[in-house]
Amino acid sequence: MELKQQIDLERLPKHIAVIMDGNGRWAKEHGKQRIFGHQSGVNSVREVTEACAELGVKYLTLYAFSTENWNRPAMEVAGLMTLFAKTIMDEVKTFQKNNIRLNAIGDLKSLPKSNYDLLMKAMEDTKSNDRLILTLALSYSGRWDIANAMKNIAFAVQNNEIKPEDISQDTVNAYLSTAKMPDPELLIRTSGEERISNFLLWQLAYSEFYFMPKYWPDFKKDDLYEAIINYQHRERRFGKTSEQIVNKKEDE
Ligand code: IPE
Ligand code: IPE
Ligand code: MG
Repeated sequence: MELKQQIDLERLPKHIAVIMDGNGRWAKEHGKQRIFGHQSGVNSVREVTEACAELGVKYLTLYAFSTENWNRPAMEVAGLMTLFAKTIMDEVKTFQKNNIRLNAIGDLKSLPKSNYDLLMKAMEDTKSNDRLILTLALSYSGRWDIANAMKNIAFAVQNNEIKPEDISQDTVNAYLSTAKMPDPELLIRTSGEERISNFLLWQLAYSEFYFMPKYWPDFKKDDLYEAIINYQHRERRFGKTSEQIVNKKEDE
């Protein structure tokens, strides 16, 4: 049976997050410059986006550039920024055709102005699409997100909009950059590294992690299907006992 047919469409994750890693090593293996790996990674972005839209996954969040990635050689950073701009320009038509909404999280103001403007325009142009919300994490880090939320909560307290005693987990959720999204049920990381690298720290509290050895430019639709099938074989207990989970299923 084909992999895709093994997926239980009733139990799809609503939100999948991906740490797209290994572009540089992929390029090195092919005897090319690192930027060539990043360029090839764009094909995998298309694969995963299309596959999610076809299956009916509602939210896909891709870690494209971390706060820490600013510390890479200036040439690579500049190459990545040019690639982001080109990709966003090229893909808007496809987003419109496929009813995909583009979203972005991170310290977007730190991007070059031309990138920022392009991104805002693409987000505006696609804002009424609702088949899939594709979020790019750009100049993003989990600690930045949490610190930024704290800062804005403090301002809200100062302006008498919130009382400190009323601050709850829901308040924090509402001030994070992912406020309108459910937490990811599934996190995928390519390239064999098994770490979060400062991605969605708060939001991944109960996510299932799926690490795979392939480098990002080699990622195909079947890799997404495999990750989802693997996810569907897991028992998510959220602190409860296995018996509680099984009995609840039987009650349904
Ligand atoms: C991921 O690939 C893309 C970005 C972080 C922008 P890398 O560039 O980290 O590739 P490796 O990990 O060096 O192979
Ligand atoms: C994480 O990859 C960031 C992105 C995929 C954008 P890195 O390659 O930057 O992570 P580390 O440095 O290996 O942890
Ligand atoms: Mg890497």
